[in-house]
Amino acid sequence: MIWGWIVGVAILLFGLIVFRGAPYVPSQKRYVRQAFDELYPLGIRDVLVDVGSGDGIVLRLAAERGAQAIGYELNPLLVIISRWLSRYDDCISVRLVDFWLTPLPETTTVVYAFTATPYIKKMINKMQNEANRLQRPLRYISYGNVLTGLEADATLGAYYLYTFYPLQAT
Ligand SMILES: C[S@@+](CC[C@H](N)C(=O)[O-])C[C@H]1O[C@@H](n2cnc3c(N)ncnc32)[C@H](O)[C@@H]1O
Repeated sequence: MIWGWIVGVAILLFGLIVFRGAPYVPSQKRYVRQAFDELYPLGIRDVLVDVGSGDGIVLRLAAERGAQAIGYELNPLLVIISRWLSRYDDCISVRLVDFWLTPLPETTTVVYAFTATPYIKKMINKMQNEANRLQRPLRYISYGNVLTGLEADATLGAYYLYTFYPLQAT
């Protein structure tokens, strides 16, 4: 009986996410490493935010390169798991938040997103608003999605790198 409840709650948590963003599918380590080496060489000066951080694999690989890594994740089970998996790493933090409703940290240099096509337009708006708010360029690494209407700085396999520049208020 108790297991039935646990499984039911888990299905609900993973299932309901689709109304707010992409469901949980982890990025592949090999490709993330390649992206952090060749597409956007990530280093100690970086503060990376993974918007929808899942089990935290991207955060751990970013921290391996000396970056500060911050995860925004809506599924509490994934927050618990990713916090546990990164418990010895001071460079990693995971917040239980909805990234649509949560501003990026002031120190953000690069955003990583593995999202779903229906959310691309909303993501472009969010990133542009954040660049405007912070008044400096923000890099954006997209896994699997082209940002329609924007030109990528570089591509590598299924990865696309973009820069959002702040727009002047008129
Ligand atoms: C495709 S997975 C990517 C996981 C991780 N970034 C990776 O690449 O391995 C998308 C993640 O975003 C989370 N998510 C979806 N909508 C969200 C939202 N509005 N706020 C925070 N997290 C969200 C999901 O729970 C899921 O873990």
